[in-house]
Amino acid sequence: MKNNLAILGGDPISTTSFEERKLIGKEERDGALRVLESQILSGFIAGPTKFFNGGPEVKNLEQTWNEEFGSAFSISTNSWTTGIQTILQSLDLDPGDEIIVPPYTMSACPSAIILNGCIPVFADIDPIRLSLDPSSIRANITDRTKAIMVVHLFGCPAEMDEICKIAREHNLFVIEDAAQSPGAVFQGKNVGIIGDIGGFSFNFHKHLHCGEGGLITTNNSKLAKKCQLIRNHGENLADDLEEELLNSAFGSNYRLSELQAAIASPQIKNIENIVSVRNSNADFIKKRLVGMPGIEFQSIENDSVHSYYMMPIFFKEAVLEVPRNVFLRAVNAELPLPTTWDTNPLAEGYCKPLYMNKLYQRKIGRGSDNFPFNLTKREYGEGLCPVTENLYQRELLLTPIIHEFTSITSLTAVADAFEKVIENIDSLKSLKSDDGLSDPLAFINRNKSIQ
Ligand SMILES: Cc1ncc(COP(=O)(O)O)c(C=O)c1O
Repeated sequence: MKNNLAILGGDPISTTSFEERKLIGKEERDGALRVLESQILSGFIAGPTKFFNGGPEVKNLEQTWNEEFGSAFSISTNSWTTGIQTILQSLDLDPGDEIIVPPYTMSACPSAIILNGCIPVFADIDPIRLSLDPSSIRANITDRTKAIMVVHLFGCPAEMDEICKIAREHNLFVIEDAAQSPGAVFQGKNVGIIGDIGGFSFNFHKHLHCGEGGLITTNNSKLAKKCQLIRNHGENLADDLEEELLNSAFGSNYRLSELQAAIASPQIKNIENIVSVRNSNADFIKKRLVGMPGIEFQSIENDSVHSYYMMPIFFKEAVLEVPRNVFLRAVNAELPLPTTWDTNPLAEGYCKPLYMNKLYQRKIGRGSDNFPFNLTKREYGEGLCPVTENLYQRELLLTPIIHEFTSITSLTAVADAFEKVIENIDSLKSLKSDDGLSDPLAFINRNKSIQ
């Protein structure tokens, strides 16, 4: 059938809304009520008492996490952004020290580096795993490098063996940002504790959520202790601290409330199920579309597990001969309008490579000297990470419609929409790309019911 595409006026494949994620059930409600009735919404006291490391719900959350994932220590925080901040403070870095980080991640990663007076060094990513490419890490190591911040993007575990090997050779810390990857496994090992220290996000969009929240995990007792100090104004304990902990004593308020901990805890034991459903949903889409021209998928080793925060799909413009944005709009026109982020059929590009942000381009930091950029000669020009730029500008499509609440009917609609658009690709060849990339949050504007 030619020219029946919805974008050209034909009937869409489906107008039935996709399922929204609704994580908050009885156990989460019971937990919240339990805390409200206790009247103790936060269990922390910033002083030398038994409450320095929080109340019963926070301690239960941390212990449950350790039991589920095999970490020796967990330190919850009020977001993963403050978790990263805590970790960087714990490493006792000098101003101008360099940390290698991918440019394809949430801005929080390099921002925390800058806020610690250090220099983010953007290394390129592997075009399949979408996380730091070991060869690019090697190429960026200097005398000032102190750490590698790996991001397990979209749930796909990074190449941790090679990365940890490089770190050992150069005496560097490995920090794992597993915000998007609880339940992901690299060659039999749970992400988050393969490097020196890592952690997860519990923000509203993540696999497990309590509105906002984060959790640091490590098997290193000294780093764990330092993070506990930094999370809760450790300066107040300074008079009693061993000498080796004093340089981590100045802290802040990065504490998770009892209410949030009680909401997050019951979700932890569901992670295996969530990841398993997301894998079968991704497999369903792959099986339907594999072999279609111009569409490719990620693949990882058999002993690794992807946890599919979102499903990346690689779009080959040279094969389909239409711009990615035209393809995306054609697929989305076949499918229901989103009601939330999780029901957005298809997005493109993820985030602009972070160094292309004006603040990096112009090296605008703090104060009249633009600290800490005044400590480096590095420039952040376009072309710095070509693999990332290509993914952002041309190759990457993303769908969240593999989450655990998605029905087979919805998955079928997505696969049908891809198939229909590819079968009718010739009819799109005269269409031009919209101006620029489509905004991944465009559904907010399209659907006025969301405020
Ligand atoms: C890869 C990554 N790192 C860091 C963060 C920051 O986490 P949070 O929102 O919990 O502060 C996010 C959140 O979107 C993320 O996806």
